Parts: sequence; C-alpha cells; structure tokens
Amino acid sequence: MKKRILVINGPNLDMLGVRETDIYGSNDYASLVKFIEDKSKSLNLDVRICQSNHEGELINLIHSALPSDDGIIINAGAYTHTSIAILDALRCMHKPTVEVHLSDIAKRESFRKMSYISLYAEKVIIGKGFMGYAEALEYLASVLSITHCTK
Ligand code: DQA
Repeated sequence: MKKRILVINGPNLDMLGVRETDIYGSNDYASLVKFIEDKSKSLNLDVRICQSNHEGELINLIHSALPSDDGIIINAGAYTHTSIAILDALRCMHKPTVEVHLSDIAKRESFRKMSYISLYAEKVIIGKGFMGYAEALEYLASVLSITHCTK
C-alpha cells in the first residue's frame, strides 16, 4: 500500500517568489507544490500539501495526520522559533517527522537558531531550498519502507 505523507508549510511560505528573493529564491509557492508532487510520484508516495498563516490551523493540520498519514514534513516558518503549541501537537502524533527549512537558519539572525520543531523532528534539513523537501521525502520513503518490511 502507498505510504501517505503530510507536508505542512507555515506562515509566509505562500509568498515565495515575492518575499526576500535573495534568501528564498524567485520560484513561487505553486512551483514548490508541483516540485513536491512530482518527487512524491517518483517515490510512489501519496502526498497532502497544506499551507497556513495561522498557528491554530497548523495545529489542526498536524492533528489531521493522526488517522490518515504515515509521516510528516513540516516547515513551520517563523513559528519554528516560537511555537511550543506546534511542538506539543507533533508530540501527539508519534509519526516520523522531518523538519525542513529553505534557508540555512543556522547562519541567519540569532533568533532563528532556536527551533522548537527540532526538539521532536527525527531529521532536520536546512539551507537546501526546494531540494530539502525532496531529501525529506526520500528519507521518509526509506524509513517507512523499512518499518513496512520488518512488521
Ligand atoms: C524558513 C526560515 C524561518 O526562519 C522563516 O521565518 C521562514 C522560512 C525557511 O524555510 O527557511 O518563514 O522556515
């Protein structure tokens, strides 16, 4: 059976292509969605891709993974650095989770160095642009296939 991955993008990622293009590049959010869909198809994964600018909505999206998804990829945007509530939501899920950031948050302002999501995520990918999502999908595909084989 195909494994299902929930990809969650947080605030201002819908503004890709417009926001700080020197940091995030000139490709827009629709092209990120297409990139993730294409990569998922090549890995034989089912993917749900969601974006919200609202913290509570992101929490509801995480909760929605419980019955329906096998793994989570999350780029929580600026909530990465502030949201204990998003960390707590992820901790309810018991799903393999990968944190992705387009930019290299370790090399930016000091307030971006702290990530609440990293306290839960089993893998963190930063500074690789869209390719970070591809790497996250590859990682989950391999983790989930190992789990599948050994059960
Ligand atoms: C980001 C990094 C965050 O610090 C920032 O607030 C974002 C995007 C990234 O993908 O590099 O909105 O998560």
